[in-house]
Amino acid sequence: MAANVSVIQHPLVQHKLTLMRRADTHTQDFRRLLREISLLLAYEVTRDLPLRTETIQTPLAEMAAPVLAAEKNMVLVSIMRAGQGLLDGMIELIPTAKVGHIGLYREPSTLTVVEYYLKLPADTNQRDMLVVDPMLATGNSAVAAVERLKEANPLSIKFVCLLAAPEGIAHFHEQHPDVPIYTAAIDHKLDEHGYIIPGLGDAGDRLYGTK
Ligand code: URA
Repeated sequence: MAANVSVIQHPLVQHKLTLMRRADTHTQDFRRLLREISLLLAYEVTRDLPLRTETIQTPLAEMAAPVLAAEKNMVLVSIMRAGQGLLDGMIELIPTAKVGHIGLYREPSTLTVVEYYLKLPADTNQRDMLVVDPMLATGNSAVAAVERLKEANPLSIKFVCLLAAPEGIAHFHEQHPDVPIYTAAIDHKLDEHGYIIPGLGDAGDRLYGTK
């Protein structure tokens, strides 16, 4: 496997992903499945968060108990619009997280990236960052998003997606070798329109029923 890429092999993730891929899965189920998978991905992606101990009182005794060590909770950044589907479940698991949004779209004829929105917490430079987008296809949006987000100087960045194409992983890590990728699967290739094959189609359209 490529360096700095983790494929989340958990059977529940793999099963739910297969249901999402099926062309006959409707919007309502697709949305629910993406939320469920995002909880599981968030669980895996945060498994290396450092802990410290805090003295607490249970009903029966005092104990030194583990709590998250970071002074400020993480910032989750959604690459709009499909990133929203991954974000929703992650916020449920990390309710104290701050949230940022970055809006990018692919210009259809050239597949180049245009930024139309950016909003981040003011203290992003004191937080670890998870950037979420379901599809790492050409990698153009992810590369451009992370380039912009690095300007806010987060403590660290991880990129979380549902599906990745080998081309997208290569492109992303050419530009951002320091940013680990977490994905539920690496598919075969991109087609001539920049879609992941076999993939699941357009994640935004399937999530919001816009096609
Ligand atoms: N974006 C999508 O939503 N699907 C793909 O296959 C590629 C990019």
